[in-house]
Amino acid sequence: MHIRVECLTHIYAPGTPAERFALREISLEIEPGERVGILGPTGSGKSTLVQHIAGLLKPTVGQVLLDGVPAHAPTAEARARRRRVGLAFQYPEQQIFETTVFREVAFGPRNLGLNGEEVTRRVRWALETVGLDPEAFGARTPFALSGGEMRRVALASVLALLPRVLILDEPTAGLDPRGREDLLARLDAWQRETGATLVVVSHHLDEVARLVERVVVLQEGRVVADGPARALLGDGNLWRSLGLAPPPEVALLEALQQLGWPIPPECWPREELAREILRQWQKRHSQQGARSTQHAARSR
Ligand SMILES: Nc1ncnc2c1ncn2[C@@H]1O[C@H](COP(=O)(O)OP(=O)(O)OP(=O)(O)O)[C@@H](O)[C@H]1O
Ligand SMILES: [Mg+2]
Repeated sequence: MHIRVECLTHIYAPGTPAERFALREISLEIEPGERVGILGPTGSGKSTLVQHIAGLLKPTVGQVLLDGVPAHAPTAEARARRRRVGLAFQYPEQQIFETTVFREVAFGPRNLGLNGEEVTRRVRWALETVGLDPEAFGARTPFALSGGEMRRVALASVLALLPRVLILDEPTAGLDPRGREDLLARLDAWQRETGATLVVVSHHLDEVARLVERVVVLQEGRVVADGPARALLGDGNLWRSLGLAPPPEVALLEALQQLGWPIPPECWPREELAREILRQWQKRHSQQGARSTQHAARSR
């Protein structure tokens, strides 16, 4: 599905003392199958933007078009498109309401009018896809789960609708490092298999670097950068301009650059940086080796 955000402005509580500009004249396009990260400091408008893409908020000005149809329109055409956009909320407890995990994940497929067998098949598949054993979790109440398990259930209920656009708002908040790795690998595999569009809102640079190839950076409701993930994430100045500390890999990359190692910012994430350091070190080493051989040959 093609997504086009046109001059989108969102004001919360307009005309009241609590009035707040959350988005200011945002324009961007997301092509089918793209993997896009949305970054920015807290309060920069990330969650507001993705709720607009999912058609959950009414624009104050401008619009979001899903395959050319305004996402928020009260028409059957717009509803059909919204149904193909799955949003996993920043706070999963905001989207969970059923009494058991099975019923929670089954809710969407049942609403689509699928038969019981197909619903069960989808629920099992979705729970397995997010790394939850359907036997162990199906009958449990979602509200008695850990934060990380609840997040996986919320994600499973979105996946069970087979979205063409999957939007994840802080997908790994509340997960431990191993859980985070595991979930990222599963999402990566799911996207590669389905070719769906993936939009990831995150504060974790590592996970953005792992999952996406393009990054859009928001600041105070405006797009301040939009480009290839590697080059943007490796640019320490961008992080500082946003009031964020560059991640350790970028700090190392900058320190090496200051020492005269010509390492480009695209050498990111850390595996790439390590490879580049090794490559340059070997190059220097072999140059030094060649020089000392020449020196030894000359002094003979
Ligand atoms: N329901 C609301 N009513 C009023 N103001 C809101 C509401 N939701 C968000 N805001 C305000 O709009 C701005 C953007 O909020 P948003 O939640 O989109 O930011 P965010 O980038 O997702 O932040 P975070 O990284 O903390 O999740 C903030 O100033 C926030 O206080
Ligand atoms: Mg948010």
